[in-house]
Amino acid sequence: MLHPVTPEISNLEQIAKDQWHSLAAASNDRHHAWHTPTLANVGEGIAQLRTVVLRSADPATRILSCHTDSRSPKVIQLAEDSKFSWHFYDRDAKIQLRAYGNAWTHQGDALARQRWQDGAWRSAQCYRTPLAPGQSCMEADLDINAPVDPVTGEEHFVVLACEIDQFDWLFLRVEGHRRARFLWEAGRWQGDWIAP
Ligand SMILES: Cc1cc2nc3c(=O)[nH]c(=O)nc-3n(C[C@H](O)[C@H](O)[C@H](O)COP(=O)(O)O)c2cc1C
Repeated sequence: MLHPVTPEISNLEQIAKDQWHSLAAASNDRHHAWHTPTLANVGEGIAQLRTVVLRSADPATRILSCHTDSRSPKVIQLAEDSKFSWHFYDRDAKIQLRAYGNAWTHQGDALARQRWQDGAWRSAQCYRTPLAPGQSCMEADLDINAPVDPVTGEEHFVVLACEIDQFDWLFLRVEGHRRARFLWEAGRWQGDWIAP
């Protein structure tokens, strides 16, 4: 992947802006290394990790989002503990970004309907299965050609949104790695250098 802009590595304010710029770009570019982050939470007493597709990243609201199934364990666990973490790694840019925040879901509301109409319906096959993600099943149940009710799917579709209030940026370079922590405080990203 080409990274035409040399990352700013001394100005913390600019670094914060650059990360949000990259996140927004990644949500719109399926070839971007950050398009498929690892989304994590704590559920059943252990770190739960999974790959998701980053569907939106808004610097103004600090909200990251992905699409998922309302029946999936992560959504069920969210009711217990809304803290979620996102892990992004761009091998070519040599940047790891970890973002932390509180999540909630949109189901059947204006945003969920909009996302469904904008293209999420193309994944309807995933959402209209009678099986909840993670549920035990027979091999035959996994046959994607099995007949499904064509009008179902949307009722299981949710947008998982997460408002980010902290992130950790790590930039690897031979001259010395750079790492900074950013906290959302008093309406701005407050950055501090930390040891890599
Ligand atoms: C490349 C890739 C992209 C994925 N994207 C999503 C996604 O956007 N939303 C989602 O719920 N699961 C996605 N998955 C599946 C999840 O990794 C996971 O298996 C599923 O969501 C069940 O997670 P849970 O049991 O922790 O709830 C993706 C998997 C891969 C390999």
